[in-house]
Amino acid sequence: MKAITDDSIENLTALLKDLQVQYQKARAQNLKLNMARGKPAAAQLNLSNELLNKLEDYTLADGTDARNYGILEGIPECRQLFGELLGLNPEQMIIGGSSSLNLMFDTISFLCLFGTGGCEPWLYHRYHGAPVKFLCPVPGYDRHFTVCEELGIEMISIPLKEDGPDMDIVMDLVRTDASIKGIWCVPLHSNPQGVCYSDKVVEQLASMETAADDFRIFWDNAYGVHHIYEDVPLKDILKECAEAGHPERAYYFFSTSKISFPGAGIALIASGPENIKELKKHMSAQTIGHDKLNQLRHVQFFRTPENIRNHMKKLAEELKPKFDMVLGKLEEALSGTGLAAWSSPKGGYFISLDTLPGCAKRTVELAKTAGVTLTGAGATYPYGKDPNDSNIRIAPTYPAIEELEKAMDVFSICVKIAGIEKLLEK
Ligand SMILES: Cc1ncc(COP(=O)(O)O)c(C=O)c1O
Repeated sequence: MKAITDDSIENLTALLKDLQVQYQKARAQNLKLNMARGKPAAAQLNLSNELLNKLEDYTLADGTDARNYGILEGIPECRQLFGELLGLNPEQMIIGGSSSLNLMFDTISFLCLFGTGGCEPWLYHRYHGAPVKFLCPVPGYDRHFTVCEELGIEMISIPLKEDGPDMDIVMDLVRTDASIKGIWCVPLHSNPQGVCYSDKVVEQLASMETAADDFRIFWDNAYGVHHIYEDVPLKDILKECAEAGHPERAYYFFSTSKISFPGAGIALIASGPENIKELKKHMSAQTIGHDKLNQLRHVQFFRTPENIRNHMKKLAEELKPKFDMVLGKLEEALSGTGLAAWSSPKGGYFISLDTLPGCAKRTVELAKTAGVTLTGAGATYPYGKDPNDSNIRIAPTYPAIEELEKAMDVFSICVKIAGIEKLLEK
């Protein structure tokens, strides 16, 4: 097929006219569809409904009454369960509240206020006019960027390649610039592209030389067991860091937000022994303990890592038809046109699409006017600024499949209109 990008002005003009007719027809349907946020659909949530009636017993294996105060680090049976699931040492883990993003924000706040390992608090540098910087593989998760913005941390975009961040750039920057204190990583089925980090990238992150002694990896394994098309293995970052002589380099985050209930599941942080000691000290000033009853409820519901993996298979069965639908629609409408390229994730929650440069904002605006809400263009980049104005995150999980079908038809028309308008502009 000849790419639309190679068409003559006459053909493009005729095509645009035709697409505008299709667009007006779509608008007339008064649609109200939303592909903006990665929320689970009710059918997925229903699979965890038994949790609502759980708590057969509230006495822990060691006899502790889970209804009362205490056990800051989380109940042993819960740390054991998720330790086994993720290959983490339960002794180097804290089960926090019900949001891993909350744990990320708190951890960075602690680093800003108190520092780590005897290094100056990060705020100290800021008060002395020196910046504190983070590396942000892009496109990435908007809320990571918001955490940095809120805390006054400067962000440096790093291209995310097929197997992880561009490590030549990362290694070069962290080796020479002591103001770079951290990097965000979503190592499996990244948000939004579905990138999975290779063993080599994990090893390089763990062993690279850093100018800052308090350089930290924020390892947000939010989609660590969320495989849809293929189970993808991931090298153990904490073990790699320890073996490379940097046992405190990484903070590992995980939650059951997209396993049980978002915002009402359980969240954890794991790290080196000294980091965990520090975190417990700071946390003990914040709270006497997190919600042990919810932790126990999750243990009684899931019981074994095997059961969690089976539960994830059921969730994947719910998601697969939706991902198939979106990918099929993109293929049907846009393949070979030259107007867009998109990711084919093996799991996770998103599909990432790149329009022609300068067309993402226009596409999102056209879709919005036709009743299809997408994640804002630019959201996948620090400061909400996509330098190419081309990346759009598609979140297929929440709408019903019939709605998704309609939304994708409208979306494809919008991608084409925006692309052809841009070609004609030139
Ligand atoms: C990469 C990533 N990390 C963290 C979160 C939020 O996790 P939580 O609900 O545990 O705060 C999300 C939610 O979309 C996410 O995509």
